[in-house]
Amino acid sequence: MWVYEKKLQYPVKISKPDVRMAKYIITQYGGPDGELSAALRYLNQRYTMPTERAKALLTDIGTEELAHMEVVATIVYKLLKDAPIEELKRVDLGGHYAQHDRALFWNDANGVPWIAAYVQATGDPVTDLHDDMAAEQKARTTYEHLINLTDDPDVKDVLRFLREREVVHFQRFGEALNHVQSFMEKHPGWKPHPDHQPKPPSEWAPPGGWLPPKG
Ligand SMILES: [Fe+2]
Ligand SMILES: [Fe+2]
Repeated sequence: MWVYEKKLQYPVKISKPDVRMAKYIITQYGGPDGELSAALRYLNQRYTMPTERAKALLTDIGTEELAHMEVVATIVYKLLKDAPIEELKRVDLGGHYAQHDRALFWNDANGVPWIAAYVQATGDPVTDLHDDMAAEQKARTTYEHLINLTDDPDVKDVLRFLREREVVHFQRFGEALNHVQSFMEKHPGWKPHPDHQPKPPSEWAPPGGWLPPKG
């Protein structure tokens, strides 16, 4: 179960509307590498993780991604609020207005709606944790692109916070990958597939282990 806390994970102090930026940032709401994809990916994959620790990590991060989705929704809502229709048409959000007015909807920056094919669950914990690490890097990269697209310090501030959290998630999934691989080494009977042969962690991790990117 979840307990809802009535506050944002990070404050969104945006006062200036910017419909063009809203159009870009919506991709972190309903795009392929956005927060809905992240939350559903982790909260779904956790069932087939082999250890309680790995299940708990996916639950924790999946829950935090829901909180990120709420932060992104608030950003987009504030950037779009009270925008004149002419402004929406100017940045090609007329189609969005026709279907949704200024309401939030799960689509990417090009208006493509969210689909379940953005996420995967193979049932192989090693594969899924690699998928999760890649997802975190894609989220980080997208936040960096969004930061480059705006001059508004208030928007940059909250995007930077979200970017930093994805770096932390990448690191934690890397640790979970090492943990799951050593569990599989110690429990050779545990196999996700009949002929699966777990490799020792030394064959998977790069020298020095999994480290977050600099910056
Ligand atoms: Fe996130
Ligand atoms: Fe994340």
